[in-house]
Amino acid sequence: MLILGLETSCDDTGAGIIDETRNIRANIVASQLTDHLPYGGVVPEIAARAHLDMIDDVIHRALQEAGATFADLSGIAATTGPGLIGGVMVGAMMGKSIAAVRGLPFIAVNHLEAHALTPRLTDNVAFPYLLLLASGGHCQLLLVRGVGDYKLLGRTIDDAVGECFDKCAKLLGLGYPGGPLIEQAAQNGNPKAFDLPRPMMGRAGCDFSFSGLKTAVRTMAAGQELTPSFVADMAASLQAAIADSIADRAQHAFAMLEEPVTAFVAAGGVAANQTLRARLTQIAARNNVGFAAPPPKLCTDNGVMVAWAGLERLRLGLTDGFDTPARPRWPLEKIQAA
Ligand code: KG4
Ligand code: ZN
Repeated sequence: MLILGLETSCDDTGAGIIDETRNIRANIVASQLTDHLPYGGVVPEIAARAHLDMIDDVIHRALQEAGATFADLSGIAATTGPGLIGGVMVGAMMGKSIAAVRGLPFIAVNHLEAHALTPRLTDNVAFPYLLLLASGGHCQLLLVRGVGDYKLLGRTIDDAVGECFDKCAKLLGLGYPGGPLIEQAAQNGNPKAFDLPRPMMGRAGCDFSFSGLKTAVRTMAAGQELTPSFVADMAASLQAAIADSIADRAQHAFAMLEEPVTAFVAAGGVAANQTLRARLTQIAARNNVGFAAPPPKLCTDNGVMVAWAGLERLRLGLTDGFDTPARPRWPLEKIQAA
């Protein structure tokens, strides 16, 4: 059984192929980084056109890497939301077209569910588990009870954590996407150099907030010369503040759980951050469970996670019609298993 997964919801064109033994047969991701670089962020119209330009080639390279042809596939999964609608439509239409021509089942995948289920592919995590979903567009803590069965525990009340990394990186002249650049710069910095706020620390519940942190970085950086040592110290201080805040929120989430969980899991682009992973590992240990997060290249957007979510759904007999819409918004707690 081979499943092809297509990911086009933001600025990465991804095609991944997996088999039923959880073998990753192909993982091709074409980044549009240079297309968006002059604008300091992702431009939706440019993203949609770039997906259209690249998707054929990305799919063919994935098939080549897997040593497979369309005839070998057992199903096609594509992200149908949430995301930048022009890009989502490109992947969804392509997925439906291949499925229609080949007479294969089509699986409409929620991008957040793809992130959320990836640790089951990489670490064989069993339900239920506590999930931190931290990316450029989302920051939430969820109880994952099963495929399509999510309970939202807390979410950001303003910016997503990846957005905070990206905006602060821009303030520090580091470029885009900011998360990996902040992480790199922080290696030479002192995390105690700047006394940044720890948003929501100690507050009831497990919601997040990151816009105040961004404002604090802006205020402290205003009028400063962006020397390598200033940037390194600020990057390290920011990373530490984010890790402290998320660790506190995660501890609160554990306290809110009404049933035991098998693991604490992190997914989404920000879960690639090593400082954060180390802090979350401590929180998991304090709560007597293991910590799991996919390897960094499966944390950021890719087609493999879509293929895996598609496989999980297909195994439960959950397939979708060609009339399934592309959705700019599609909260995880609203999706159904059936
Ligand atoms: O999951 P993703 O690839 O796309 C979305 O669905 O948003 O996440 C992208 C986000 C960006 O904000 C990026 O700066 C952040 O993940 N990110 C990181 C790291 N790698 C990517 N943030 C912190 N540390 C990293 N190493
Ligand atoms: Zn994502």
